[in-house]
Formats: sequence, structure tokens, C-alpha cells
Amino acid sequence: MSQSILILNGPNLNLLGTRQPEVYGTTTLSDIEAICMRKADALGVSMSFMQSNHEGALVDALHDAKGTHDGVVLNAGAYTHTSVAIRDAISATMLPVIELHLSNIHAREEFRHHSHIAAVVVGQICGFGAQGYPLAMDALITHLGEDK
Ligand code: DQA
Repeated sequence: MSQSILILNGPNLNLLGTRQPEVYGTTTLSDIEAICMRKADALGVSMSFMQSNHEGALVDALHDAKGTHDGVVLNAGAYTHTSVAIRDAISATMLPVIELHLSNIHAREEFRHHSHIAAVVVGQICGFGAQGYPLAMDALITHLGEDK
């Protein structure tokens, strides 16, 4: 059976395209979904794509991913820097998660340098814009292969 991955996006990422284009570029979230679908086809995996502005909905999505998906690419947006609940959900499900950010969070404001989730994910990809999504998918699929 082919592998299945969840691409999970947090708050304000629904506004990509018009949101601070100097930081996040002009690619919309639906453009990114199309990029991810093409990448999933190329990798021969199935993929679900979702976005929520609500912390609890992201926690629920991580819980639901257990048993449904083999791993997750997570752009938790601002919750990266604030959410113990999302960190705990990653630890609780024990699913492999790749942390992703469009921008290089380490080159931005001090409060973005700390990620609550970094310690419980497989690894972090940031600073490559929309291109980071297929990079993260590659990283996740390679990791899942190594895990077998
Ligand atoms: C982000 C970086 C976060 O600091 C920010 O709050 C976001 C987007 C990124 O993709 O670069 O909403 O996760």
C-alpha cells in the first residue's frame, strides 16, 4: 500500500499571496496545494492538505493523522512559537513530522527564533519559500523509507 502524508498549515497561511508578499512571496495556498499534489504524484504517495486558523483544530488534525497518515509536513505558523499543545500532540501521536516555514525564522524577529515544536520533529526546513513544501515532502518520504 502506498504511503500517505498530511500537509498541515496553521494560522494566516490562508492569506498567502497577499499577506506580506515581501516576506512570504506571492504564491497562494492553493498554488502550494497544487505543487504538493504534483510532488505527491511524482513520489507515488497519497496526500491530504489542510489549513486551519485554530490551534485546537490543528491538534485534532494531528490526532486524526495517527492511523490515517504515515507522517506530516507541518507549517504551524505563529503557533510554532507559542503552542505547547501542538508540541504535545506531536509527541503523543509519535508520527514523524517535518517542521516547515516559508521564511527563515532565524533571520527574523527574536520571538520567531524559538520553536516549541523543533525538539519533537524529525527536522526543520525554512527559508525556501513555497519550494520548501516539496523539499519537506522529499525529506519525509526519505525518512519514512529509512524507518522501515
Ligand atoms: C511562518 C513563520 C512564522 O513565524 C509566522 O508566524 C507564520 C509563517 C512561515 O511559514 O514562514 O505565520 O511559519
